[in-house]
Parts: sequence; C-alpha cells; structure tokens
Amino acid sequence: DKGNYRHFMAKEIHEQPEVVGRTLAHYVNCTAGRVELPIDLPFDFKDLKRISISACGTAYLAGLISKYWFERLARIPVEIDVASEFRYREAPMEPGELALFVSQSGETADTLASLRYASAEGQHVLSVVNVPTSTMARESDVIASTLAGVEVGVASTKAFTCQLTVLLALAIAAGRARGTLSAEDEKTIVDALIGVPGLMSEAIKREHQIEILAREVSKAKDVLYLGRGTSYPLALEGALKLKEISYIHAEGYAAGELKHGPIALIDEAMPVIVIAPHDSVFEKTVSNMQEVAARGGRIILITDEKGALEAGLDTMATIVMPMAHPIVAPIVHAVPIQLLAYHTAVFMGKDVDQPRNLAKSVTVE
Ligand code: F6R
Repeated sequence: DKGNYRHFMAKEIHEQPEVVGRTLAHYVNCTAGRVELPIDLPFDFKDLKRISISACGTAYLAGLISKYWFERLARIPVEIDVASEFRYREAPMEPGELALFVSQSGETADTLASLRYASAEGQHVLSVVNVPTSTMARESDVIASTLAGVEVGVASTKAFTCQLTVLLALAIAAGRARGTLSAEDEKTIVDALIGVPGLMSEAIKREHQIEILAREVSKAKDVLYLGRGTSYPLALEGALKLKEISYIHAEGYAAGELKHGPIALIDEAMPVIVIAPHDSVFEKTVSNMQEVAARGGRIILITDEKGALEAGLDTMATIVMPMAHPIVAPIVHAVPIQLLAYHTAVFMGKDVDQPRNLAKSVTVE
C-alpha cells in the first residue's frame, strides 16, 4: 500500500525518520547514551585483526561508509569489496577473523556466495540483513537486523539508512570493546545518532526546493557527484540512484580524484553535485569545488548550515541540511540525494518503482 504517495520509493524515503528511529532504538540504550547490541557475538571485537566486508550495490556503499567508522572509532583495518569480485578473488583469510555482509534481501547471489567462501575460510560470519528469514540470515553465525520493514521500491532507500544505523552501532560497540572509544565519546555519538530521525525529518523539508532543482538535472546527459571521506561513498550512491531510476548517466568520484581525470569533463552542460557537510575535510572539498567553478561547471552543493556560510562560492543551488555530528552526517545527507534522484526520474516520467532491466532481488549472478 502506497498510502498517500505516488510511488513506493517516495513513501519509503518519507518513512526513514520512523524506521531509522526504530532500528536505532533496537541497538542503543537511549537513556544511558550507549550502544547495547541485542545479539550475542560469537567473537570479541578486541581479538580481531581485520574485518572483511562484502556486498553489492547500495548495500556495498553502506559497507564502504562503515569502513570509515570501523577504522576511525575502533581502529580495525577493514577490507571491502563488491561481492561479485570478492567471491572469485581467492582472497587469503586468516581463520577467526570477522567477515561482514550487508544485504537488504539476504538473497543476493554474489553476496551469498561470498558468505559461503568466508565461512569455509573459517571466518566468523555476521550479516546485516533486512529480511530475517532470508538465506543469508540462515547461513550466518549471527545477524544484525535492520528494521526497515518491507522495501518495495527497487531503488533501495530506507534499507540503506537503516544499514548505516546498524553498522554505526556495531562500529561503536567495536570501539568500546577495543578501548579506542571513551565512554564520553560514545555518549556524544550515540546522542547524535538518537537525533538523526529528527534531522532526517528536517532534511525532508527541503523536498520542494529539490523538486524544482530536479527539472534542471533532468536536462543533463551526464551528472558528476563528488565527496570526500564518508561523503565519497554517498557520492557513489547518489550517482547509482540517479542512473538506475532516471537513466541519466552519472558518476561518483572521490573529490580529490577530480584532477586525475574527470575534470576534463567539466562544462556548463554537466551538473556537478558536491556533498560536503562541514567536517574535517570540508576545506579540501571546497578547493575541489573551486576547480569546478573555475572551469564553468555548475555546482549543486549539498552541505549543512555552517558549510553553506563558509563555502563562499557561487553555486547553481545549495541544499542546506541541518547540522549533524560529522559521524552521523552521512545518514542525514543520504536524504537529499535520494530525493533528487526520485524527483528527476518522476519529472522525466520514468517508472521509479520498477526501473527497466532491474529486479528487487538479484538471485542470479
Ligand atoms: C540500488 C539497489 C541495488 C541493491 C543490490 C543489493 O538502489 O537497490 O544496488 O542494493 O542489488 O541488494 P541486497 O541489499 O538485497 O543484497
């Protein structure tokens, strides 16, 4: 049931404050301001030398954001690959380490094959899944459920932000276990996470501005997305969302890679969407933006209140998010990139819930 929405995708974008709130309440003790995992882990984070993550598509990009979190908060090296590569790479794995899988459906063929490989290599297998009765859930040593509810739209939205929520809770738990995250810092991040549903509701209020902007984006043949740090995987996710439902060619790049090639593409015809909350790499991203502006590129900046004040650049548009702690900012900044892809595709008359050539659950290689 789509309720009052035109598409499941719209409904699922709007549901995010609620389902992210439900998911985080499952992993966090809100009064104590600390993570309390609802599962028993068959390993101790403090014994791990490495985590290997594999997944596909949007779930892979959630995993890529969590790499930054696990490394920063828990100081654990993280290796990550798309499952279709990982499964055939014959990656050497030391027994007793952690292999982490992320999947909405829990049925994706490549992710499942990777899971079986890791299991045979003596890894502890932990899966972040949305369908608790899925094959991956059954074959894992332990699952961390996302409580996104049924996701109908082929383009993943609420499952993605719930995956991020669970992965952040795991990274915080890992940081505590390894003594790399103080109780005080844990409380700061957990409090910030508890604030995320409210900030997502704020983010959704930019929908009208984004809808108008989508008309401009719909004229483009190519769109470039740029970001640094955790905004880099978000740039990849923005490009993925746009191409799968609007069929506009889009690419995501690490902002610092711009000068190593893609800068050659910049002209007035290609919108450049820059995702840059005011975090520790903000200044660096701004200088990449200046390089785009100097070549006549048209910039759509997605930032926060502080970033909007400090960017000091002429943009085609600036979409201003509420301030969020830098660790949780990617969960909030996911909302405008979803809305932009959605409204661009709707404006172009595309079938956003059933894009051509795509299936909700990819059970073949
Ligand atoms: C993109 C999208 C796909 C899935 C991918 C993995 O919007 O939905 O890229 O994320 O097919 O699917 P799951 O998470 O079911 O393993």
